[in-house]
Amino acid sequence: MGEIISGKELSKQIREEVRLQVEELKCKYKAVPHLAVVLVGEDPASQSYVKAKERACIKAGMKSTAIIKPLTITEEALLNIVKDLNDDTTVHGILVQLPLPKHIDENKVIDAIDITKDVDGFHPLNVAYMHLGRDAILPATPKGIMTMIHSKNIELKGKDAIIIGRSNIVGKPIAMLLMKEHATVQIAHSRTVNLKEKCLRSDIIVAAVGRPNTVTSDMVKDGAVIIDVGVNRVDGKLCGDCDFENIKDKASYITPVPGGVGPMTITSLLQNTLECFERLMK
Ligand code: GUN
Repeated sequence: MGEIISGKELSKQIREEVRLQVEELKCKYKAVPHLAVVLVGEDPASQSYVKAKERACIKAGMKSTAIIKPLTITEEALLNIVKDLNDDTTVHGILVQLPLPKHIDENKVIDAIDITKDVDGFHPLNVAYMHLGRDAILPATPKGIMTMIHSKNIELKGKDAIIIGRSNIVGKPIAMLLMKEHATVQIAHSRTVNLKEKCLRSDIIVAAVGRPNTVTSDMVKDGAVIIDVGVNRVDGKLCGDCDFENIKDKASYITPVPGGVGPMTITSLLQNTLECFERLMK
C-alpha cells in the first residue's frame, strides 16, 4: 500500500505556521498582509475558489478584499482596477481570477500586475525568473506540489518524471521545478503517442489534464510517485485524473482527490502573500 500524501493535513500544519508568522509580522510592521482578489462574472467554480481564498486569508490573520465585477466590465476598466491596486500601498498581493471573459485580453491584465504583488506568479517576468532558476514568486499549484514532495523527503535527483498536461499554470512550471531538483522530465499532452509506455518508465507521474482515469494502474510502475492535479466531477463526486483505488497499492506515494493538491494551492497562495508582504515592508 502506497503512502497517501494528505494535502489537507499538510495544509493545516503550514497554514498554522503562516498564521503565527502573520501575527509576528503584524506587530513588527504595524500593518496587515492584504490580498486583493478580482473576480469578473459569476462562474460558480471561480466564485467558490475566490471564497475559499478569502476564507483562508482571514483564518491566517490576513486581510482579504474581493473586488467582484460583472461580465460586461471593459478591459480598460479592469486595467484601471489593477492599476489602483498596484498603487495602493495597503495591498500586498493581487490576484485576478482566471478565466476572464473573451472580450478581455488576459495577457494584458496579467502584464499590468505589479510583479512585486503578483501572488499567482503569472506575470511574464516572474515566469522568466522561475525558468531561469532565479528567485521568483512561484505559481501556487506547482509550489504546493513541491511542498508535498519535500514533506516526504522524496528523492528527485536522477529520477524520471512525466508530466501529463502542458498548461502554463501547472504543466510547464512543475516541469521546471522538478528539473531544477535534478529530475529528468518529460512533458506529455493530448498529442503524445504511447503514453502508457512512457508512464511505465517513469518514477514520478504528475497528472494535470482534467480527465478522469487518464492514468490507470496498468500505466504505473511499482513504487512510482503519483501526483494527481485533476479536479473532475463524476456523478456529482469529486475525482482526480488518476484511478486512485487501483493505483494506490502500486505507488510508493500518491496524492488523493479531494484533499491532495487542491488545499495546497491555497496554502501556497497564503505563503506567497506573506512573502510579498515581507518584501514590500522591508
Ligand atoms: N483559475 C484557476 N486556477 C487559478 C489560479 O491559480 N489563479 C488564478 N488567478 N486563476 C485561476
